[in-house]
Amino acid sequence: MVEAFAVASGKGGTGKTTSTLALGMALADSHDVTVIDADTGMANVLFHAGLADVETTLHEVLAGEAPVEAAVYDRFGMDVVPCGTSLAGFERADPTRLREVVATLAAETDVILLDSPAALGSRSAVLPVVLADRVIVVLQPTVPSLSDGLKVQEYARTYGTGVAGILFNRVADDEDVAAVTTKAERYFEGETLATVPESDAVRAARRAGRPLLAHAPGSTPAGRYREAAAELTVRDIASDDVADRFRNAVIPEQS
Ligand SMILES: Nc1ncnc2c1ncn2[C@@H]1O[C@H](COP(=O)(O)OP(=O)(O)OP(=O)(O)O)[C@@H](O)[C@H]1O
Ligand SMILES: [Mg+2]
Repeated sequence: MVEAFAVASGKGGTGKTTSTLALGMALADSHDVTVIDADTGMANVLFHAGLADVETTLHEVLAGEAPVEAAVYDRFGMDVVPCGTSLAGFERADPTRLREVVATLAAETDVILLDSPAALGSRSAVLPVVLADRVIVVLQPTVPSLSDGLKVQEYARTYGTGVAGILFNRVADDEDVAAVTTKAERYFEGETLATVPESDAVRAARRAGRPLLAHAPGSTPAGRYREAAAELTVRDIASDDVADRFRNAVIPEQS
């Protein structure tokens, strides 16, 4: 049984990668979690999870040069599939192979988290949102971020992907954001999973190459991510169904 979530935002730098690993670690207390860096053009998971030195990544798998299992690393209680950062690796990678990769991993895990690219402008960028069962939309409490988040939701809807919830990150002031979250909930399908403050602990974790929940488990943002994970009720979808859907998904043609 497995459910696949895309962690997406539209806008760059909202905290998708940070959130993917934080939610992954929180969910790993009660589920088998697999985190996949589906941001194959601007991969970042490896820097957040101490995997910058590994030899085999998703790039080699997507290029048909390595089996999926060779790119799965047991880190922080999760299975992490990092992606390389070289342009050559990106050029050799066939993004459509991601379907087969996720289908294979779906048999072995309860939760798949796909760290997604910022934009929606290419086939590889929209793939996680198209393939996932539900999307978690990471927002900053600004109008451009909300507007981009709504585009992600629209895209998700078009492809039958649900919205698990919205997550406000880099929030300066809890009181100010309350008005924004109330308004946002009118436009987004999912509930607000959490509001995560702007915090030095998050930056320090990134610098240390460790997920926030490993680096500063007692910090306020870590607590908020645990609350967000507790709000997510993971659905038990038959692994075969998820795998079949991934294998058969039609990826939209884009320039
Ligand atoms: N709550 C926060 N407080 C302080 N810094 C944060 C917070 N969330 C994220 N950051 C920092 O902002 C930067 C971007 O975060 P992250 O890489 O998670 O975003 P992203 O949405 O994945 O970015 P991209 O669109 O480039 O993939 C990182 O340096 C991260 O440490
Ligand atoms: Mg990222």
